Amino acid sequence: MKPAQTCRVGIIGYGAIGARVAADVAAGRVPGASLEGIISRRPLSGAPAGQITLEQALECCDLLVECAGQEALVDHGEVVLSAGVDLLVTSIGALADRGLSKQLHAAGPGRLFLTSGAVGGLDLLSSGARMEGYDRVTITTTKLPGSLVQPWMEDALVEQIQSARGPLDVYQGPAAEAALLFPKSLNAAAAVAIAVNDWDSVTVRVRADPGAELTSHVIEASGNVGEYRFEIRNKPSEENPRTSGVVPFAVLRSLEAIIGARGGLM
Ligand SMILES: NC(=O)c1ccc[n+]([C@@H]2O[C@H](COP(=O)([O-])OP(=O)(O)OC[C@H]3O[C@@H](n4cnc5c(N)ncnc54)[C@H](O)[C@@H]3O)[C@@H](O)[C@H]2O)c1
Repeated sequence: MKPAQTCRVGIIGYGAIGARVAADVAAGRVPGASLEGIISRRPLSGAPAGQITLEQALECCDLLVECAGQEALVDHGEVVLSAGVDLLVTSIGALADRGLSKQLHAAGPGRLFLTSGAVGGLDLLSSGARMEGYDRVTITTTKLPGSLVQPWMEDALVEQIQSARGPLDVYQGPAAEAALLFPKSLNAAAAVAIAVNDWDSVTVRVRADPGAELTSHVIEASGNVGEYRFEIRNKPSEENPRTSGVVPFAVLRSLEAIIGARGGLM
């Protein structure tokens, strides 16, 4: 079945991810989508579409793409879905908050979509979880030290991270906690937890490495289904080192799948 009409898209957040997504949609690189406007906290300059308010976006868009951060999802998620507008989310770590997750999954008639973002292997992990579940799922994320410092960290830990000369383990805990403690850095852990449908059993390790030119995520899962190991090494975005450069393109791919403009790999 071919898409009946153009999907009118709006973007929330015009940073590393949002700017690239906006440029590609505006340039017609997502067949069947048009860019209607951008919701931004700051005045836009040189953007491929005009700045609009959320209220305007709810009037003129069929789908909004959140590229703004966890807080934006908390503030606007339910309003968007309740207005009948679909929402594609990049800040999926916010869903570690069970209350928010329940609220957004119950809201509608707009549909909630989550991008796979910086990691892969989620399709297989999800298939395996349906089959048998896992005995063990871990994700080890290694990033440049500066991108892992968080406001809640004590001064001594910040100092330790910033002066690390080699790999330093910064955190270990369940995905449910990790995704909220590192809101801009552990959406990959959230993606794994969502794929296996278990926020508590997925163990997240966070490692700071001053030599980490690439951001790496090593995902390991084992159980009756077999043993999986995925190693992803992404180049950080030039605009925002906390974000991997591939993420806007994952969002564009998600958009294309939602619109259904092309068949192919799901
Ligand atoms: N799923 C993934 O794999 C993945 C990977 C990286 C980042 N992310 C998520 O994407 C978010 C954006 O990443 P980025 O690299 O583009 O960040 P960025 O800081 O470069 O850009 C975010 C922009 O959104 C704006 N903003 C914040 N709140 C807003 C609001 N309520 N309304 C409008 N604009 C708002 C900011 O001013 C900023 O310009 C991150 O915070 C993170 O949660 C997800």
